[in-house]
Amino acid sequence: MTLDHLPANFVWGASTASYQIEGATKEDGRGPSVWDTFTARPGTVRDGHTGDVACDHYHRYEEDIALMAEAGLTGYRFSIAWPRIQPTGTGEVNLRGLDFYDRLVDGLLSCGIEPVPTLFHWDLPQGLEDDDGWLNRDTAHRFAEYAAIMADRLGDRVQKWITLNEPFIHMVWGYGLGTHAPGRALFLDCLPVAHHQLLGHGLALRELRARGLQVMIANNCTPVWPASDAPADRAAARAYDNLHNRLFNDPILTGAYPDLSAFGADATLGGSVRDGDLELISAPLNALGINYYNPTRIQAPASEGLPFEEAPIEGYRRTAFGWPVVPDGLRELLVGLKERYPALPPVYITENGCSVEDVVNTDGTVLDLDRIDYLDTHLQAVDASVAQGVDVRGYFTWTLIDNFEWAEGFHQRFGLVHVDHDTQVRTPKASFAWYRDLIRAQRG
Ligand code: NOJ
Repeated sequence: MTLDHLPANFVWGASTASYQIEGATKEDGRGPSVWDTFTARPGTVRDGHTGDVACDHYHRYEEDIALMAEAGLTGYRFSIAWPRIQPTGTGEVNLRGLDFYDRLVDGLLSCGIEPVPTLFHWDLPQGLEDDDGWLNRDTAHRFAEYAAIMADRLGDRVQKWITLNEPFIHMVWGYGLGTHAPGRALFLDCLPVAHHQLLGHGLALRELRARGLQVMIANNCTPVWPASDAPADRAAARAYDNLHNRLFNDPILTGAYPDLSAFGADATLGGSVRDGDLELISAPLNALGINYYNPTRIQAPASEGLPFEEAPIEGYRRTAFGWPVVPDGLRELLVGLKERYPALPPVYITENGCSVEDVVNTDGTVLDLDRIDYLDTHLQAVDASVAQGVDVRGYFTWTLIDNFEWAEGFHQRFGLVHVDHDTQVRTPKASFAWYRDLIRAQRG
C-alpha cells in the first residue's frame, strides 16, 4: 500500500480508554465511577462482565508501553480516570492517581511516543452522578476544575489534550436509552446532557489554553445516507444528521446549535443554554478529533415517536459486531466536513478499527486478516481525503489491546494485541506486525 499524501510528522497512534483497560478500580484511592455502579447491576453487561480488572493495565502499563514501542507508534491516546484524580468528582486531589498518569506519560516519552490524553471517556465519578451527572450544569464547572488539575500536573510534558470522547454516544446511550452508564432512559429529555458536556468542553478549553496547551474534542461522526430520494426519507436523514453529527460539531465550529425542531426541541436544548455559553463552546480548537466506524442509513419512521428510523446497509462485509465495513465512508465524511465547515481545523482520526473473532492458534499466531484489510482500506480513505484537501494530521486506531467493550463486556475484540482475559497474556496479532511495518515504511 502507498499512502502518498499524508504529511510529514503524521502521528501514527493507537487509542484506549481508562475504564476499558485499567482495572484496579478500588486501588490507590480511586473513587467509584458510574461504570462501576452500572456494571454491578445485574443484566447491564453481557455475561455480567465488569471493568474491575479489565486488562490490568494499571499494573501492566510498562509492558503495554513496550508493545507500543515495538509497534513504532509515535502517539498514544489514552484517557484519564477522573475518579482516580478526584474520587468524588470535586475537591481534594488524590496524589496517587496523579502519580499513575505521571509514570505513564514519562514512560511514553522515554520511548518517543507522544501522550495524547482524553479527559473524559465516560467514567464520571459516581459522586457527580449522585447530583444528576451531566444533567446538572455544575458538572461542566467541576470538569473544568479537574481539567486544570491535570494540565497543571502534566502540561509541562503533554501538549495535545482531548476534552471529551464521543459526547453523542454518552448522551444517547447513557442518558437517552440507558444501555450504557449511568443507565438513565430519558429519551429526548437527555438533550441538556449535550449542552452541559459541550459547556464542560468550553470551560476546560479555557483552562487548557490559559496554560498554553492545545485542545481537541473526539466526536463520533457518521455519514448519513437517506434510504431513498423520497422527501420523507431525506427529511429523516437530515434530522438524524442534525442529532448525531451537527449537534456536537456545529456549536463548536460555528457557535450555533442545528435545527432540532424535528425532535420537538428548540435552540435552548431544554432550557439549558445560557447567554455566553456558545462563545465559550466555539472558542477555536487546535484540531478536531474524529472517531469513525461506519455510515448510517436512515429512513422515515413507520410510526410516531422519533423522526427517523435506522435502515440496514446491505452489500458490504460486516465486522464481528455486525457493523458494515465502508472505508470510503471515511473519505466521504472528511470531505463532507470540509465542505460544511470551510474553516475546519486540522483533523486527527482519534478512533477507527473493527472487532474480529480472533483466536490464538497453537503456534501462537493470531491471523486477523480482516482487521488488516479494514485498517488498510480506511487508511487509504484517509490518504484520499488528504488528496482532496482535508488537513489530516494523524491516525489513532481503536485499539491497542483487546479490552472491555462496554455493554458487550469482553466479547468484542478490537485490539492489535490479543489479550487472554483469564491470564492477561498479551499476544500481538498479525495486524500488529502489519501496522508496525507500515509505520516503518511511511516514516522512511
Ligand atoms: C468508540 C468508543 O469511544 C470506544 O470506547 C469503543 O470501545 C469503540 N467506539 C468501539 O465500540
